[in-house]
Amino acid sequence: MKTPKLICPVHTLDFKQLLPGNTELTPEVLDKLIATQKGISYPTLSFLEHGTLFKDLRGFLKMPPYDTIFQGINRAVAMTLMNKIGFTPPLLEFFDYFKKNDGYTYRHSLVVFALSVLLAQDLLGETEDWIIDVMAGTIHDFGKVSVPLKILKKTETITNVDRIILEHHALAGFVLLSYYLQDYEKFAAWVAKEHHERRDGSGYPLGLKLEDNMVEIIAVCDVYDALLSPRPHRPTPYDNRTALEELTGMAQKGKIGWEVVQGLVSYSRKDRPPIQEVNVSTEKRGTPPTDTVYGVVEKKIKCPNCHGTAKEKKILRERCFGSKGRIKRSGVSCVITAVLLMMVNWAGAVCARI
Ligand SMILES: [Fe+2]
Repeated sequence: MKTPKLICPVHTLDFKQLLPGNTELTPEVLDKLIATQKGISYPTLSFLEHGTLFKDLRGFLKMPPYDTIFQGINRAVAMTLMNKIGFTPPLLEFFDYFKKNDGYTYRHSLVVFALSVLLAQDLLGETEDWIIDVMAGTIHDFGKVSVPLKILKKTETITNVDRIILEHHALAGFVLLSYYLQDYEKFAAWVAKEHHERRDGSGYPLGLKLEDNMVEIIAVCDVYDALLSPRPHRPTPYDNRTALEELTGMAQKGKIGWEVVQGLVSYSRKDRPPIQEVNVSTEKRGTPPTDTVYGVVEKKIKCPNCHGTAKEKKILRERCFGSKGRIKRSGVSCVITAVLLMMVNWAGAVCARI
């Protein structure tokens, strides 16, 4: 098993640095971090009773194709289950933060959560108690609180540095959830770390072969909803058919399993065939939107510390070198950035991902 290593520091929402960049996430390091939370206990609060979550989620699920997916019994099942799920305040703050600052991540997190609950019930056939247990605290993109909003909301081509910081959300989420849940083996922390891994080992951050069915459900729902959503870098969303074709292509390449794709295809059909009997068409008839710069990375590696504005330099320094980090000589900072990029390349994390 590879030991994950942070590239950037990990901060809480109130900007407390939990771990500096370059930290190897060994059990000893994580135990030491979790020990700082000793004696702190958080109350468990109803997920759907928090703020406007229930109202907002209902609204999101009324939009196509979720209005079809969550029609009738499906909506009732998902809502009943979610109503029983409790979250602790630091995790609920994630939703408050993104509702205020980044509507896409807010909506996406809620919808992926609802869709995962529904698929877990239908595909895994586990008990309700099990689903409630594993989903409590699961916020797959929690680590995005460590990504500057400027990068999350960027509409232009991203730089290599942007992509490193973006992809770092998987490990940042693992650290943050381990810290708040006081256990690095909690399912939620595991999901945060592995939801961009793939069955064939082509994902990130570690290039592990994704084996857990529940994590894969969340991973596929993540991709599906990302395709269906207008994004800063791709204003036109995929239509449902084309999004399902993208997932079919991923299953054909062995990146994901067929079962989740069968589930999503079944939910999208009016006759609702039993999931295991769904024949997924491999015929390509959809048209992906063309107005996208996703996966397009500026060829020139531009070091924001040398070439960015004063604000960009501050963000980079705080996010990637620690709040006290000072890099005065531009040549040195370029070298540091290049070394960071080499490390990421070496870790196999440099690929354009959905
Ligand atoms: Fe993610």
